[in-house]
Amino acid sequence: MQSNMHNIAILGAGRVGTALARRALSAGFEVRVATSRPAAENAVMLQIVAPGAIVASAEDAVAASDIIVLALPLSKYRNLKPELLQDKIVVDAMNYWAPTDGTLAEFEGATSSSEVVQRFLKGARLVRSFNHMGYHEIEDSARPDGHAERRAMAVAGDDAQANLIVAAFIDRLGFDPVISGGLASSRLFAGGTPIFGAAMTRIEIQQHLGPLSHNPA
Ligand SMILES: NC(=O)c1ccc[n+]([C@@H]2O[C@H](COP(=O)([O-])OP(=O)(O)OC[C@H]3O[C@@H](n4cnc5c(N)ncnc54)[C@H](OP(=O)(O)O)[C@@H]3O)[C@@H](O)[C@H]2O)c1
Repeated sequence: MQSNMHNIAILGAGRVGTALARRALSAGFEVRVATSRPAAENAVMLQIVAPGAIVASAEDAVAASDIIVLALPLSKYRNLKPELLQDKIVVDAMNYWAPTDGTLAEFEGATSSSEVVQRFLKGARLVRSFNHMGYHEIEDSARPDGHAERRAMAVAGDDAQANLIVAAFIDRLGFDPVISGGLASSRLFAGGTPIFGAAMTRIEIQQHLGPLSHNPA
């Protein structure tokens, strides 16, 4: 799978954000990380937990990057700036978890959380992925292409080209991407599904995602 994408922005520097930053740096990407705080406040922490990551404002990180990963609590998604993410490939790694997010009526229905986020981030090319894997596994489970234990990562989005670009990113990180379909199909790998938190290979995940799911390799 070929990709000429090199620059990644991660919004959120907690468990997922920093694990992903380290993995992406190891895979050769240039990584910028931003939180809701001024960049200077994150500098020392990021130097320790993700050395090599560029500490930036959200504006600078997004402007310089090909792919933006949302790794902030879902309860904070309305603090994002839709105009900043207009036309950008944005990966939604966020999950709704009422015990930490609080009960949020908009995420209690049958609609996937990513569809709700997409409605807010109207112009973004939103792709859901990374949400079903624990943060430590993003680093510990990465394997080279063709390795028997290589794990799969589900991908869903309404923009077919954005799905392919994110799939190529996932492949370079050390996982087999499997596209399940449009954003609505992300319900198949949300919390409470068999895929969520499970270690599955490409074949196994495709069995759960159904006959339309595919690996774009
Ligand atoms: N933990 C897991 O294993 C796991 C796995 C897959 C997916 N997820 C999902 O990934 C998301 C993050 O989880 P986490 O465990 O990494 O959370 P976390 O450790 O609490 O970190 C959240 C990060 O988001 C930042 N943040 C808050 N508001 C922000 C904003 N407006 N813009 C940019 N950054 C912002 C926080 O920093 P400031 O408050 O300083 O801004 C913090 O660095 C959640 O939605 C979670 O459901 C978690």
